[in-house]
Amino acid sequence: MTMRGLTSAYLMRRIYDYKPGDTILLHAAAGGVGLIVAQWAKLLGLTVIGTVSSETKAEVAREHGCDYIINYSTENIAKRVRELTDGVGVNVVLDSVGKDTFEASLDSVKRRGLVVCVGTSSGPIPPFNPHILGLKGSPYLTRPALADYIADPAEKAALAGELFDHVASGRIRIETNQRYGLEDTAQAHRDWNRARRLDRRSSSSDDGTLIMHIEQLTHALGAEISGVKLADAIHDDGLFAELRGALLKHRVIFLRDQDISRAEHVAFARRFGELEDHPVAGSDPEHPGLVRIYRTPEQPNDRYENSWHSDTTWREAPQFGAVLRCVECPPVGGDTMWANMVLAYERLPEHVKAEIADLHARHSIEATFGAVMPIEKRLALKAQYPDAEHPVVRTHPETGEKILYVNVFTTHFTNFHTPARVRYGADANPGAADLLRYLISQATIPEYQVRWRWKPNSVAIWDNSATQHYAVMDYPPCHRKMERAGIIGSKPF
Ligand code: SIN
Repeated sequence: MTMRGLTSAYLMRRIYDYKPGDTILLHAAAGGVGLIVAQWAKLLGLTVIGTVSSETKAEVAREHGCDYIINYSTENIAKRVRELTDGVGVNVVLDSVGKDTFEASLDSVKRRGLVVCVGTSSGPIPPFNPHILGLKGSPYLTRPALADYIADPAEKAALAGELFDHVASGRIRIETNQRYGLEDTAQAHRDWNRARRLDRRSSSSDDGTLIMHIEQLTHALGAEISGVKLADAIHDDGLFAELRGALLKHRVIFLRDQDISRAEHVAFARRFGELEDHPVAGSDPEHPGLVRIYRTPEQPNDRYENSWHSDTTWREAPQFGAVLRCVECPPVGGDTMWANMVLAYERLPEHVKAEIADLHARHSIEATFGAVMPIEKRLALKAQYPDAEHPVVRTHPETGEKILYVNVFTTHFTNFHTPARVRYGADANPGAADLLRYLISQATIPEYQVRWRWKPNSVAIWDNSATQHYAVMDYPPCHRKMERAGIIGSKPF
């Protein structure tokens, strides 16, 4: 109760100066924090409009003090709030749902009211232009963390004092979901441990504390995530949404000790989208979409990954991302590196940005994987996968960021040879080639990189639009076995 109670305490006693008669919109009103907040709000004389996802939850929320309930699966939240408040809107919105309710929250708050984003159980709120606040009645927006409201021991004691006072006197009821006899102590411990694990993951939506431990690895990109089992994220929407959010933010995320089956690996990756096989690297026949990147002492030279690349940019729709698991690795060596190509673009000199703004380039499987094939086989490969053309600066499909998008698969610019750039025919090829070489070399700048050391059952998940990677071949002939689920992406623009 303590975390949820303290979160409820600061939401009711610190974040806004509530007056009796004020109205609040409380999302997830039947959740752990919601039930405490609803009761506390009634003690302050507030009108509470709660949102829930089902009739059963509506009943529970009403019992704990909600005056009105909106079932967000069937009703339009903002429209209903305007009806209930004579068109004025609520003083404060407490939103622990995030992505799915953020817009409705802005549309439900009164002029110059307050929207409190206190969690993201449906997924992170996408980036938005602050200008929108000016169009929605100039609300204030805050994303608080409990830690900042209890950092001062005196303030923490005061909040805890109020909370325990209300609970001890019965003014606020804390639900007890399970009671155990003394003889069931061992079972109680097991259940408690399990609940604690689940709670760590879902607590952010309820009480604003960290969902899982995320440690940033460099200033450029990459974060290691602990306290999470990927197998749980196959069915746990909240956990998956948090991982997806971390991926978009850090561009590559790493996890250790993921002892998952191949079926679980595929099922987890499928949450991001459909998977695809690779025309040259073989897949696991029992698990389509799971590409085997196996190096053995017998096949040490069959190497492609030790070049800076984004996967499958030779496709019209290159991969959105990949989930790579280490099955076996050398005791030392065989690390993989990633480079942040958003940063690589951002740091380009302005005159280069201007020069490449409208350029397009070709990406070829023929000139890379096909190069070692006999000519007939190479041409057959090219016929099946004709060269793709992509903008040299692409836009991230979800974040809108600009990305430098050339790599080892890029053969040439397709629209360089214009009168503005080429005075004499002789200018064209060296000019284009030098510029392309320069752009491709940006991924090699260490300030844009992170390097990951593998152990069996380590997993890397990367955003293939925004990064390039390089598998370092610095180990003697030995086994290095990696399995990669590649997620189909969209056509770059
Ligand atoms: C890849 O290039 O997708 C594989 C990277 C690796 O084997 O570390």
